[in-house]
Amino acid sequence: MSLESKVILVTGGAAGLGRTIAETLLSRGASVAVCDINPSRLETIKDELLPKIPIERFVALEANVADEESVKALIEKTVAYFGHLDIVINNAGIMDKFDPIGDCDKKMWDSILAVNLTGAFLVTKYALPHLQASVEAGKPGSLIINIGSTASFSGLTAGVAYTASKHGLVALTKHTAGFYGPKGIYSVALQPGGMTETNISDAFAKGMNVEGFKAVKEVHPKMNNVPVDHVARYVAFLTEDGIGQSANGSCIVFTGNWPEA
Ligand SMILES: NC(=O)c1ccc[n+]([C@@H]2O[C@H](COP(=O)([O-])OP(=O)(O)OC[C@H]3O[C@@H](n4cnc5c(N)ncnc54)[C@H](O)[C@@H]3O)[C@@H](O)[C@H]2O)c1
Repeated sequence: MSLESKVILVTGGAAGLGRTIAETLLSRGASVAVCDINPSRLETIKDELLPKIPIERFVALEANVADEESVKALIEKTVAYFGHLDIVINNAGIMDKFDPIGDCDKKMWDSILAVNLTGAFLVTKYALPHLQASVEAGKPGSLIINIGSTASFSGLTAGVAYTASKHGLVALTKHTAGFYGPKGIYSVALQPGGMTETNISDAFAKGMNVEGFKAVKEVHPKMNNVPVDHVARYVAFLTEDGIGQSANGSCIVFTGNWPEA
């Protein structure tokens, strides 16, 4: 199905999964805004996509999803650029270092929660009036997709901060689905397993918690690799007319049966 009439914002969209989601949505006809905190990745995506995509269908904006003023400006710029906003993909995320609570300093806890959970809260909050306007304009249902993880349902696939943030995203998804679903704004979480072709392990540049990592590996010896393209195509499917309504409130595991069902 063509996504031609839809305007979709992808956070953390200049690299990794977010970029693949953005490119997949563009290839199906959607208009896409990506935001990212990393200016050089934004330059790269602009340089690589703008020769192929008409400028009226794609914009790349610098924003920090953890910062309220930055998020307000992001939403305003997106709506000013395209005239409306129908769908939000809360994808921006950072990984911890596998620290259990005893080793997790408060700075690490705060930074992970700020991006992975508060970021999705802020983007959803400031996008909502525009998603509502889209529904009032007769569009077939606005949608928020939150990118969770196996750490959204399993206690030991990351450190405590990442795990708490991704569990929190499930609550954000379900509450939003429950309250706004009847108003035509739907909310879904995708919970992918370990993905290739991403930069999330940048978090380990200064080392990782060896004991924490070992504990995760012992519980989950098989680290499944899900191609980002498969997750991106699932996201595109969810944005098709009517699917968000039927999937509202779902937290969809996407792991190639890991941990084994
Ligand atoms: N890579 C995996 O194995 C894996 C597994 C499950 C879930 N996820 C989730 O997938 C999502 C995408 O991650 P990825 O693996 O593609 O990582 P990635 O690092 O390749 O991409 C994340 C992007 O988010 C951006 N970003 C970070 N902080 C930001 C902020 N404050 N504001 C705006 N942008 C910010 C980064 O600059 C980066 O371009 C994340 O939510 C992550 O938790 C990843």
